[in-house]
Amino acid sequence: MIRRRAFGRALFGGAAALASASQVEAKGEAEALPRDSADAPAALSPGDAVCVADFRRIAAVQLPRPTFEYIETGSADEVTLRDNVAAFQRIKLLPPILSGVATTDLSTTVLGVPIKLPILLAPVAAQRMYHPHGALAAARAAAACGTVFGVSSSAANSIEEIAAAADGPKWYQLYVPKNRNIARRLVERAEKLSYKAIVVTVDLGEWKHADRRNRFMLPREMLLKHLQDVGFPDVDPGMSHDQLIAYNAAAWDQALSWDFFDWLRSATKLPLIIKGILRTDDARRAVDVGLDGIVVSNHGGRRLDGVPATIDRVAAVLEAVGGKAEVFMDGGVRRGTDVVKALALGARAVLIGRPYAWALAADGEAGVRRVVELLRDELQNALVACGCRSVRDVPKSLLLG
Ligand SMILES: Cc1cc2nc3c(=O)[nH]c(=O)nc-3n(C[C@H](O)[C@H](O)[C@H](O)COP(=O)(O)O)c2cc1C
Repeated sequence: MIRRRAFGRALFGGAAALASASQVEAKGEAEALPRDSADAPAALSPGDAVCVADFRRIAAVQLPRPTFEYIETGSADEVTLRDNVAAFQRIKLLPPILSGVATTDLSTTVLGVPIKLPILLAPVAAQRMYHPHGALAAARAAAACGTVFGVSSSAANSIEEIAAAADGPKWYQLYVPKNRNIARRLVERAEKLSYKAIVVTVDLGEWKHADRRNRFMLPREMLLKHLQDVGFPDVDPGMSHDQLIAYNAAAWDQALSWDFFDWLRSATKLPLIIKGILRTDDARRAVDVGLDGIVVSNHGGRRLDGVPATIDRVAAVLEAVGGKAEVFMDGGVRRGTDVVKALALGARAVLIGRPYAWALAADGEAGVRRVVELLRDELQNALVACGCRSVRDVPKSLLLG
């Protein structure tokens, strides 16, 4: 049993996030399912899923409760978590009629890379806890769908393993080791493996009651592999679980500042994306330091509760950026109409986190493919209804008010 304080520090890194073996064994035990999953049809199978929420219901049944709650929950009172979804629902579409449009071209580019639809997979940790094939399955699904796979620093497979699994476009999301030689090596590895961009997540440190209550944690073997995959040279296979947890808690830089990007620019030629911006002054600064992309994000409501819904910050960030960087958003995207709203506000594309984590749990690669396809079909349907011929031309006038 690890001490609660050490556990909290381990999650702070965002780099340790897998359930203990005993939690995995608890799979199948009868437990009340959280929230609306209680009313799920008992026998809903992945092939019957018709929307994101169906995959959530299946994941709720399939996963051990601590793992489901790790994906599901947000920080503190979960006001931001709920608002990410609710804010999309508050925005209304006002579609013009009789546009003569039968189909919409969903293809676009992100930082010069062609993709088949403006829905990307966000970096998500601990994917091998959701399905045995984990991030390898998600990478294959992203490639099959023609979109970008955002590879978490904590995905639970090495960047080489993920690169070998699928040749679709990938972004490498960097959590930054305090040892900058290891950080440099990581970005060099990503560059060599033809990753298309480095994403630096800046809203660091999840703070979630459920995970502390559940003592949610990487099992020893996964944590060991994770630290070895990152390239920490002094990680010893003989270390105990507690020692690995303590090592992990101390290994990552939680106190980044803007000058990090000067260093990063000197370490790689890849496009740089910052993930976790909500303020306009930060957006301007990101442009000033030469970043290529901005993800308007609050980490899916998992970091600091009480911050605004991301979709409510997209317009202001875009105005601040003035076309000098590509702007993406994530948080609360559950419907094709949500994607339309984000595009109408000027986002280049959206990223999804929980929807594909649920789908991965439900049905591995096929589940992730299916959830992206369902969102794609909803998006296509909504854009036709709104008279749009291309995702690159979704006017703001579609939004009421
Ligand atoms: C289970 C889970 C793990 C996550 N792990 C990471 C991570 O390792 N790195 C990161 O930058 N963001 C991480 N995120 C945040 C996502 O990249 C994304 O910002 C968020 O999920 C978007 O909100 P959504 O889940 O409502 O789509 C994680 C999110 C979830 C749900």
